[in-house]
Amino acid sequence: CKSKSWKKLVSIAVSGAAGMISNHLLFKLASGEVFGQDQPIALKLLGSERSFQALEGVAMELEDSLYPLLREVSIGMDPYEVFEDIDWALLIGAKPRGPGMERAALLDINGQIYADQGKALNAVASRNVKVIVVGNPCNTNALICMKNAPNIPAKNFHALTRLDENRAKCQLALKAGVFYDKVSNMTIWGNHSTTQVPDFLNAKIDGRPAKEVIKDTKWLEEEFTLTVQNRGGVLIQKWGRSSAASTAVSIVDAIRSLVTPTPEGDWFSSGVSFDPFKLFVVLFWCFSEGKIENKTQVYTTGNPYGIAEDTVFSMPCRSKGDGDYELATDVLMDDFLWERIKKTEAELIAEKKCVAHLTGEGIAFCD
Ligand code: LMR
Repeated sequence: CKSKSWKKLVSIAVSGAAGMISNHLLFKLASGEVFGQDQPIALKLLGSERSFQALEGVAMELEDSLYPLLREVSIGMDPYEVFEDIDWALLIGAKPRGPGMERAALLDINGQIYADQGKALNAVASRNVKVIVVGNPCNTNALICMKNAPNIPAKNFHALTRLDENRAKCQLALKAGVFYDKVSNMTIWGNHSTTQVPDFLNAKIDGRPAKEVIKDTKWLEEEFTLTVQNRGGVLIQKWGRSSAASTAVSIVDAIRSLVTPTPEGDWFSSGVSFDPFKLFVVLFWCFSEGKIENKTQVYTTGNPYGIAEDTVFSMPCRSKGDGDYELATDVLMDDFLWERIKKTEAELIAEKKCVAHLTGEGIAFCD
């Protein structure tokens, strides 16, 4: 009889591990539904002095669950210890937004946490660590983290906008009267905030353009867009706290999108960064009929949409399932979409200026 062959242990750090989102997420990670039923994992839980006792409780519950794939559980308060050699960092820990509070107010409070964690990742994590930033304002926190970790590829940092993608898919499915798995190619552009752009121009329902299925353009431009943009805030108003279970589910979705190949033609949204637009020319020579010919090849790489450099901007991505991704470039653009992309870009640029002291780019200036 053949024994089951196990893969190399994947080491996952989770910050804010004693919080509500983690409480939903950790058990999904341990059960194998995220990385696969043949993938053993180690969970390294990062908490604070205030949350340490609760963290001990979380670790006890994980141990008592006897998950066969969960090979190690450790807890700590020092990111330099917890992040050692990790393959994934799920950075959830942050002060959450309360009722009526604008996300920008969190910039200062949470930015410092992400600067410190970026430095720790830079010092001790695997050079190929994948970082998913969940704590708000997640795009700018991801930027701060990335800027403080220059030894880790910028491409490895993500801000979680998968929750917004899921919310948008749900609204389109409800309106079209179809099950949500019929909605594909749903991009969220820009910031995980009220300026985010849920892109109904490129979305598809049952393989057809969403605009062909839902002919009510006014609904798409107004109600749909506003509902998705404000969903997080409305939920806070209703419940008195930030979304937790649906956020955990969307973290699972975001990871799975990176570790499994993207279905043909589809894509997923993630807040990502990229090298500035580069045009590089490679000269090479080849022999042709006995003569050396000089041939010039032009390659483009980096930012295909001309989005401002040094922002973490949600865009459509595709993965081969190796943890890496490419930007999807086969998208349509119209004036409505472009104007809104520019608006969310402007917000991210303003946030970036406000945290310049944390990204090593000079003196902070907040509008
Ligand atoms: C959400 O979208 O539900 C969370 O990110 C909460 C928030 O602060 O918007």
